[in-house]
Amino acid sequence: MKFASRVEKIPPYLFVEISRKIAQKKAEGIEVISFGIGDPDLPTPDPVVERLRQTAGDGPNHRYPETEGLPEFRSAVAAWYNRRFGISVDPVKEVISLIGAKEGIGHAALCFIEPGDIALVPDPGYPVYSVGTWFAGGECHWMPLREENGWLPDLEAIPADVADRAKVMWLNYPNNPTGAVADIAYFEQVVEFARKHDLAVMHDACYTDVVFDGYSHPSFLETPGAMEVGVEFHSLSKTYNMTGWRIGMAVGNADMINAMLIVKSNLDSGVPQAIQEMGIEALETTDEWLDGRNAIYQNRRDKVLRALETIGLHVDPPKASLYVWARVPEGQTSASFTEKILDECAIVVTPGNGYGQYGEGYIRLSLTIGDADLDRGLERLIQWSSK
Ligand SMILES: Cc1ncc(COP(=O)(O)O)c(C=O)c1O
Repeated sequence: MKFASRVEKIPPYLFVEISRKIAQKKAEGIEVISFGIGDPDLPTPDPVVERLRQTAGDGPNHRYPETEGLPEFRSAVAAWYNRRFGISVDPVKEVISLIGAKEGIGHAALCFIEPGDIALVPDPGYPVYSVGTWFAGGECHWMPLREENGWLPDLEAIPADVADRAKVMWLNYPNNPTGAVADIAYFEQVVEFARKHDLAVMHDACYTDVVFDGYSHPSFLETPGAMEVGVEFHSLSKTYNMTGWRIGMAVGNADMINAMLIVKSNLDSGVPQAIQEMGIEALETTDEWLDGRNAIYQNRRDKVLRALETIGLHVDPPKASLYVWARVPEGQTSASFTEKILDECAIVVTPGNGYGQYGEGYIRLSLTIGDADLDRGLERLIQWSSK
């Protein structure tokens, strides 16, 4: 049997490899504490789960959904955009439901990329931007994210001929894996760049509502001109602890949303309607609930930062996202340090180079770990480093 090269050439999805290593340790009887994947341990809000109970039996919800999503769901998205970011979007033409942002991001490449086309992709970055590009037959031009640039791509460093050939630029703020944020002034530069080089901007905004210290992150679509060039991806996964339910949305330029509808309606059949009902409920979740949930992550963030400081790794506190991005000790690489702490104290972190070559020299710790495990894991790290 011969598989397509797109299957054979792509490295296994990052967390598949990490899960394999954890399973191996567990089989050896070792208790592993994982700061690996960003998958909220905290529960979906009660009213959201209750909405599923109430609507699971409704006849229409047992049938195929429309790919674009229920009108009520898309209206709830538009109302949320208005409340949260102060902007108006047309729920009919400028919003589409997604089976999680990952699905939308992967499929979006099929709307823009033909064999040989270029996508501008952040490095380090969420792997689906590059994998989607490769599956569509395109090539990635990596935009290095560097500490000295606040982990923002240096747009002037992109060669003009590459920018002219590029079809798409991927961005993600608050950022996975670095925890960095972007402001409207930076987004203005992006809009100008996109206009100049006639490319589409895909902003992955999955973490806008996982924020600390009273910080508020803008939407890319608040930027003047952004609706002409871009689409923003949101996920209910991280905002409302809903990774398992698989629901998100893309919002932005009507032609781009229509292109996504053409691709998606030919490949998937949308989000189950009872889960869209949960989505409607989630989007109406109170600010108090979000503040309380974010306070839990902030407390964990502070504990992680203190423990890292104790073992000699200084990190500036991230303002948003679920991650702490730390430089490995002198003389170590991302892989060697990750392996060392897995072997010597059974702690899992994600090696920075798993997110691209410019992630080398860093590790990522996720805050989606229960408090008791978090405390024990950090204590283990401190004990280990003091030996
Ligand atoms: C940057 C980024 N985008 C998208 C996703 C996927 O979100 P969803 O659960 O909605 O598919 C993740 C998940 O880790 C992520 O980190």
